[in-house]
Amino acid sequence: MDPEKASQLRSAVVWTVVLTAVHFALGTRTHTVHGLHIALAGLFMVPIIIAAVAMERRGALAAAAAISGIYLLHLLLNWRNSPMSNPDQFAWPVVYVVVGLTAGQLVHTANYRKWQRDEVISKSQRTEMVQGLTGLLTALGVRDAATLAHSRRVAAIAVRVGEHMGLDRGAVSNLRLAGLVHDIGKAGVPDDILFKDGRLSEEQTVVMRSHVDLAVSMLRAIPGTDAIARIVSQHHECPDGSGYPRGLRADAIDPAASILRVADVYAALTEPRPYHTPADTNTAIAAMSALSGSKIDATAFAALRVVVGHAAASDIFESESTPALKEVNA
Ligand SMILES: [Fe+2]
Repeated sequence: MDPEKASQLRSAVVWTVVLTAVHFALGTRTHTVHGLHIALAGLFMVPIIIAAVAMERRGALAAAAAISGIYLLHLLLNWRNSPMSNPDQFAWPVVYVVVGLTAGQLVHTANYRKWQRDEVISKSQRTEMVQGLTGLLTALGVRDAATLAHSRRVAAIAVRVGEHMGLDRGAVSNLRLAGLVHDIGKAGVPDDILFKDGRLSEEQTVVMRSHVDLAVSMLRAIPGTDAIARIVSQHHECPDGSGYPRGLRADAIDPAASILRVADVYAALTEPRPYHTPADTNTAIAAMSALSGSKIDATAFAALRVVVGHAAASDIFESESTPALKEVNA
């Protein structure tokens, strides 16, 4: 339970216990005491209103019912034979329930209006964010249409894997956006490296790998992209710590980034590249099996296998036999 609600409920319980104790302790002998009892009966509305604030109609009704029970017990036990007993006192439980229902309904309406306002604000912020990302993607498409096409495919695969793994709607939506922009930093990689046909030299590999940090700094310019930037920043990290740029290990890698990585690797293997012909599904899955748990997350890979409809049978392909895998991590 929300800590603020829990504290409000605790406060309602404390009010109820204290008022009950004073009611039972006061006795019923004098007119002054009778007057105090009337005031205390009115104060029982305080915990009912607090419960309404904490849990709307449900909380208010529960508090009104409990306090009505306590109050009736007090009347029957303490006031039954008193000359000052007053049938009007039996009206209090009705007042408690009416006050509870009214307060609960008012709080419910106020909370609903606040939720509606928050929804409108968060939708417009998200729309602005998506517009910013679309601008970045357009720039990437102008510079490198192949990477944009790859990114769209990665996003589609990652979404299906995320849905299969039971991610909620918000997480799947972030995963889709992260998939679309994961290689946006390649727009900042020089032509002779980005479009090189052969293998990259060591220095060129360092420059190519900077696309991750470049992407994160581009995303930083767009408000609301923190979660997406986090996923993008880890899409080349490996469970065994051999990835880049930070060499994070499995427990420090965001599960969404692990999903993005398996989608990225699968997409790269099954797409034509200057340095390899596209693998079919079976070959790609078999090659990825060799990397499961070390270079790619085992859980995300298991989900990918189901999603691509392949019950991978074997590790018959050693990772060395698929040199393209080395390129995937470039
Ligand atoms: Fe990348």
